[in-house]
Amino acid sequence: MSKTIIVSNRLPLQVQLNNNDLEITPSVGGLATGMKSVHKDGDGIWIGWSGLTEEELDASLEKKVDAAVAKENCAAVNLSQNDIDNFYYGFSNRTLWPLFHYFMEYTEFEKDFWESYKRVNQKFADVVIEHLEDGDKVWVHDYQLLLLPQLIKEKKPDTSIGFFLHIPFPSYEIFRTFPWREELLTGMLGADLLGFHTYDYERHFLSSIKRILRLDVKFNEIIYHDRIVKVDSFPMGIDYDKFHNAAKQHTELNSKDRSELQQRLDDHIQSSEDTKLILSIDRLDYTKGIPNRIRAFEYFLNKYPQFKEKVRLIMLSVPSRSNVPQYQLLKKETDELVGRVNGKFATVSWTPIWYFYRSMPFDNLIDLYTSADVALITPVRDGMNLVAKEYVATRTNKDGVLILSEMAGASKEMNEALIINPNNFEGIADAIKQALEMPKEEQVSRNTILQKRLERYSVEKWAMEFMKSLDATKNLGQVIVSKKLDNSIQQEMFSEFKQAKNKLILLDYDGTLSGFQDNPQNASPDAELLKLLDNINDLPNTDMVIISGRDKETFEKWFGLKDYSLITDHGVWLKKNDRKWEALERIKTEWMENIRPILETFVDRTPGTFIEEKKYSLAWHYRKADPELAQIRTIELNTVLTSLISNNDLSVLKGNKVIEIKSSSVNKGRAASRLLSAKDYDFIFTIGDDWTDEYMFEEVPEGSYTVKVGFKKTKAKYYVKDTKEVRNILSKFTEN
Ligand code: UDP
Ligand code: G6P
Repeated sequence: MSKTIIVSNRLPLQVQLNNNDLEITPSVGGLATGMKSVHKDGDGIWIGWSGLTEEELDASLEKKVDAAVAKENCAAVNLSQNDIDNFYYGFSNRTLWPLFHYFMEYTEFEKDFWESYKRVNQKFADVVIEHLEDGDKVWVHDYQLLLLPQLIKEKKPDTSIGFFLHIPFPSYEIFRTFPWREELLTGMLGADLLGFHTYDYERHFLSSIKRILRLDVKFNEIIYHDRIVKVDSFPMGIDYDKFHNAAKQHTELNSKDRSELQQRLDDHIQSSEDTKLILSIDRLDYTKGIPNRIRAFEYFLNKYPQFKEKVRLIMLSVPSRSNVPQYQLLKKETDELVGRVNGKFATVSWTPIWYFYRSMPFDNLIDLYTSADVALITPVRDGMNLVAKEYVATRTNKDGVLILSEMAGASKEMNEALIINPNNFEGIADAIKQALEMPKEEQVSRNTILQKRLERYSVEKWAMEFMKSLDATKNLGQVIVSKKLDNSIQQEMFSEFKQAKNKLILLDYDGTLSGFQDNPQNASPDAELLKLLDNINDLPNTDMVIISGRDKETFEKWFGLKDYSLITDHGVWLKKNDRKWEALERIKTEWMENIRPILETFVDRTPGTFIEEKKYSLAWHYRKADPELAQIRTIELNTVLTSLISNNDLSVLKGNKVIEIKSSSVNKGRAASRLLSAKDYDFIFTIGDDWTDEYMFEEVPEGSYTVKVGFKKTKAKYYVKDTKEVRNILSKFTEN
């Protein structure tokens, strides 16, 4: 039976050595806690790092670790100390983590880290492939494994691969600074579905795809080679029932069963009637805005001194990535700040901040969540933040107030919380006051809405939606209805070609015989291409015609000495073998005087674009322009032109990153039909990449071989990938 393979850097359980004995603890962090609930009910496996290094393991220990993780339906990837230093602490947490959270000043671009990142992603790929069987799906998680989807897709192209990023995807302006940006993006594009927590992250990702890889994006689908990669946002939920039910049971505990922590919390709560607890829980991470939170709390106590001795901030900071210098500095800063604020305000019976630097078992988390009147969550940047959701889920009486930073992904869907800007102390101080004084009915009405959503869109639902969407990507490939011109079709075609008596080969030039250049003047034919064309042109009983939108002067310069047949200007001029140029159409050009100034205003306002003046047409090229601006401008230009050309017998052609205005009575299809009526061909092959070539595909009779270059919608029967493949196929016409 097919299964789902979950892959993440960390397994949901961490193995440590204690005097040669294995000690197993649950992993912290949103990815592990969230996915754990999805994994426990499924029949798949979870592949990831166990927490031990290769150096710590001998053969017998390795067996023990494998058995221990296998018991939890997991499989371990073994990482060496060097991998941990360079891949985990290095590239993952000193490069990607700070960059993706907009901490550019902390970001280190180290070649060694990058090399290690590639190596370790390959290690993960090897283990995944070992476990992969036909029909299995793979779900890859988070920034440590951005290259993994592609590595799997290369080896197993038929596998359905999903990827989810648990942290923000930064804006293009940040992402572009990254030295290996193309590799990271193409690594991710190995997936069939890419998921993000919010629409903003999705939008930033698509913007980088368009600007850096220059790929076509239609709504949220990326056309990538012969595949369509879907991108969507899925805001991750929590295991609502687990938290809610645990909180319910917790309220039913009698006093002797209450934990020590709970008893201390109770002491505080009972110390005075109007005493209040404010809670924050996070990994000790510079993205979580911990120093800001302490300073804002200090500001609050100064601004509203009436709350002194009544309010306490309980801060649980979970140790994290403590080998990274920035985390060590943050630890020092936090210790000092807590010390300073406590020293400044404490009285014999009150310390304003209770600070815990450790991780706590689930039951203690529930103690904290259920005891706190207010949760103060102030990250300066956070992919989602599940703690905010967990706090709300545990409020079984629907009381309690969540103060949440607008920089957390969760803020997008938790509008009923008090949303703050973590850099605005004034705002935070006021929000704390508002929270502490909020009437019960208001708390209940806000939490009712929040809980409803959390209950409905739980982590199970989130995972199901993602998987459903991944399954649906199977049907996306059918957007391209033409068939790949594969080996078996080619064989059939070449055998028909051999037997035919009168053969026509119609070749488009740009994007077909020659790759696109930023400047069309640079696309002259190279020696290899000329040799290939010579060979085809010399074939017996075969008419080879290059049919192009180029002007006849350019073709004369490039092919003047050859005896090829040429059609230029989209079908205005024809030169048959070594004869003279003859005009196929009588064309007016007066309109150009009116249209040129319009195009010029678009060039002025759209950097990177230019006008190509041809004898019978004007083309506005935007290949080098910012793709998003170009998209807006093309719509604008189209609207302007459509209103102008309606009674001028002109048409606007939208080509490959070019808009061309020309007489409507001319097109490649008309030119092709002239050739067809002049001779009775029994084999026709026609190939092109552009919109303008579609006329040709329409015109040739059934049974012809019509071939599109690239993966676009087309009337052609077949498609090939790129110009390299075109040349390869054309050379086969001349074999034997
Ligand atoms: N958590 C935990 N033990 C602790 C403190 C927190 O397991 O001592 C869990 C917490 O319940 C939450 C996760 O760690 O599910 C933190 O996820 P969040 O999305 O808030 O932040 P992240 O750590 O992923 O950045
Ligand atoms: C965040 C990341 C996870 C990571 C977790 C804990 O939630 O998105 O990928 O596992 O933090 O960090 P750690 O470095 O300890 O795995």
